Amino acid sequence: MRVYRAALIGIGGFGAQHVNILKQLADEGSLRIVAFADPNVGASQRSFETLTAIGAVHYTDYAEMLTLHPDIDFVAIVTPIATHKPICIQVMRMGFHVLVEKPPAVTINDLDEMIAAQRKTGRLCQVNFQNTSGQAFQTLLERLRSGSLGKVEHVVGVGMWKRLRSYYDRTRWAGKLVSDGQYVLDGTFNNPLAHLLNNCLLAAGVGDGHESLPESVQAELYHVNDIEGDDASCIRTVMANGARVHFYAMLCHEANELPCITVYGTQGEAHWNYRNELTIRARNGEEKWAYGSSDLMRSMYLNLMEAIESMDKPLFSPIEACRSFVLVSNGAYESARAIHAIPGEFINEREEGSSTVRLLPDLSANMKFAAANRQLYSEYPFPWAVSTEPFSLEGYRRFELPAGMASN
Ligand SMILES: NC(=O)c1ccc[n+]([C@@H]2O[C@H](COP(=O)([O-])OP(=O)(O)OC[C@H]3O[C@@H](n4cnc5c(N)ncnc54)[C@H](O)[C@@H]3O)[C@@H](O)[C@H]2O)c1
Repeated sequence: MRVYRAALIGIGGFGAQHVNILKQLADEGSLRIVAFADPNVGASQRSFETLTAIGAVHYTDYAEMLTLHPDIDFVAIVTPIATHKPICIQVMRMGFHVLVEKPPAVTINDLDEMIAAQRKTGRLCQVNFQNTSGQAFQTLLERLRSGSLGKVEHVVGVGMWKRLRSYYDRTRWAGKLVSDGQYVLDGTFNNPLAHLLNNCLLAAGVGDGHESLPESVQAELYHVNDIEGDDASCIRTVMANGARVHFYAMLCHEANELPCITVYGTQGEAHWNYRNELTIRARNGEEKWAYGSSDLMRSMYLNLMEAIESMDKPLFSPIEACRSFVLVSNGAYESARAIHAIPGEFINEREEGSSTVRLLPDLSANMKFAAANRQLYSEYPFPWAVSTEPFSLEGYRRFELPAGMASN
């Protein structure tokens, strides 16, 4: 493979992880980091020094960077969620392949504009849903496509994490539905546990061997923190192939548990988790795979470079494969209509380090039971939960924030 010429837009926050991977790949001789753009490098001195030490040129304006370096092969975009669409479209129109952070877009209308630009420009656009790249998940998709589990009936994803107050204070758009006049919809499934929802939908989407989109969504959204978005949620999705996805997430658990997915087919079941481990129990007995999760982002970069080399090589997470994710994310808000504050009597708050944390012990203790029964929180029922109606995604093309959410 030739030595690729890469550029990075956004080096702060999660950009530091991209700097590490890009530097690793540069040290191995796979690529050269030509330039990077960020208008605010003050808080990212380490990444700034790493990049400039290996000859990457700094710009405050990414368009100027791309104009002055037309020989760049691909650009990684690691900027706040609301900026993905305009930056990604401009980068592709200027002729460059892209690796853009997840979620690729907040709204289905924005995502469809990005997909249209990708098709028109013919550039590759990989979305950094890095949990798609693990060998365990790829093996799961292969087995589902080949029918090893029979017809997929249910996919259940469970994510139980803890996030401190400092997490919501780290950047201005954290926990917001709208920031600087732009939709952000920052919450459990649209940001930290987005990989879990995306992989649930991909697994359900190939449930009968063919790709399938979601048809309807029923969701309940809650928060224990003083944020606009949700920090506890559950979503039921019905796919066009009949498979049902049940997704459960909380950021107010007492610890960070390993997010996991169970796939129930007519002829067996599979368990996959974020450690890149897979167990399948089907007609041939039990099979197990354990690969480890340290190289997932590196695999996303290598996969993009291989696809640039040979346009036949499929991307792990091409932008058009993210339609299910964005449709379900938007549909979840349409179904929930409001993000309900959980009353203080159910919440424990304590100091932790130099921050504080709010926990929801009731949900921590019972979420897995609700998941095992595939019940939404109001069906379980939790005393604080509020029931919602399913929302049809038929012909759904444009997201508007439900009126009940703006004032929450
Ligand atoms: N794949 C993952 O597991 C994972 C994990 C964490 C975050 N993320 C994603 O990474 C993205 C960035 O999140 P973050 O928390 O690092 O955000 P952030 O708010 O910390 O911003 C990242 C950087 O982008 C820069 N930036 C903003 N606008 C810019 C522009 N126009 N040009 C150049 N640089 C610009 C900022 O100055 C900052 O340094 C989000 O999409 C987030 O969801 C992904």
